[in-house]
Amino acid sequence: MTLPDPGEKKEFVHHKFSAVSEKYDLLNSLLSCYVDHYWRWIAARELSAYPDERILDLCAGTLPLSHEIARQIPRPVIAIDFCFDMLRYGTRHMKKGMEKFIMPVCGDGERLPLADSCCAGITVAFGVRNLTRLDVGLREMLRVLRPGGKLVILEFSRPSNPLFGPVYMYYLHHILPHIGGLISGDSEAYRYLADSIEAFYSPLELAAMMEAAGFQSVRYYPLTMGIVHIHTGIRGRQAIA
Ligand SMILES: C[S@@+](CC[C@H](N)C(=O)[O-])C[C@H]1O[C@@H](n2cnc3c(N)ncnc32)[C@H](O)[C@@H]1O
Repeated sequence: MTLPDPGEKKEFVHHKFSAVSEKYDLLNSLLSCYVDHYWRWIAARELSAYPDERILDLCAGTLPLSHEIARQIPRPVIAIDFCFDMLRYGTRHMKKGMEKFIMPVCGDGERLPLADSCCAGITVAFGVRNLTRLDVGLREMLRVLRPGGKLVILEFSRPSNPLFGPVYMYYLHHILPHIGGLISGDSEAYRYLADSIEAFYSPLELAAMMEAAGFQSVRYYPLTMGIVHIHTGIRGRQAIA
């Protein structure tokens, strides 16, 4: 396993994303056979009920989901990530006209540089698995979400199908790190990806953590045979305890 100790996780994750930032988009699409675009399309569509309001795309990386949110409905998107190199690559490759809507901000998801209740929606694509203290991150998301606002999490999971599951896990552990290493030059980053998916909470456990943080109406559903799940939760109208 290449999973770092909790005390070293933040630095490890930051370092790994910095190292692969230039090849991140290419590898994402290659390794998922371009299905990642569909996953982000579904995630962004979850916020279609908030057409005129500000959205936070947390762990925004190279901004692919921020683009999709602003493409579906042009509106302000604050894109926060703690890895400057990921944001810089995304900003350099921003599609024409998108700079009017997407505002990249370097910041930590466990200590968001935002006022209380300032966003109507939050998306986190492939980010919650990377947070060192997920409970702290979820409470921060609740804090910056306005009452009635919606959190949408897109995250990898382990397919439970008895035929597809083992094939996918073999691909994850034995093929993906080689391709990832070959193209990015950092196979450890892609071994971390596989190991962190293996070790991450089940969808049921993640839903329970969202509820424990204070989210209401928590729901989740699988996409692509359970390779990923979408989780959603609403901030209730009452004050946060
Ligand atoms: C797998 S990438 C996901 C990027 C993008 N959301 C996507 O859809 O491809 C995870 C991102 O989370 C960021 N990240 C990890 N921990 C973070 C933290 N504590 N605060 C802010 N960003 C964080 C990493 O820098 C990385 O860019």
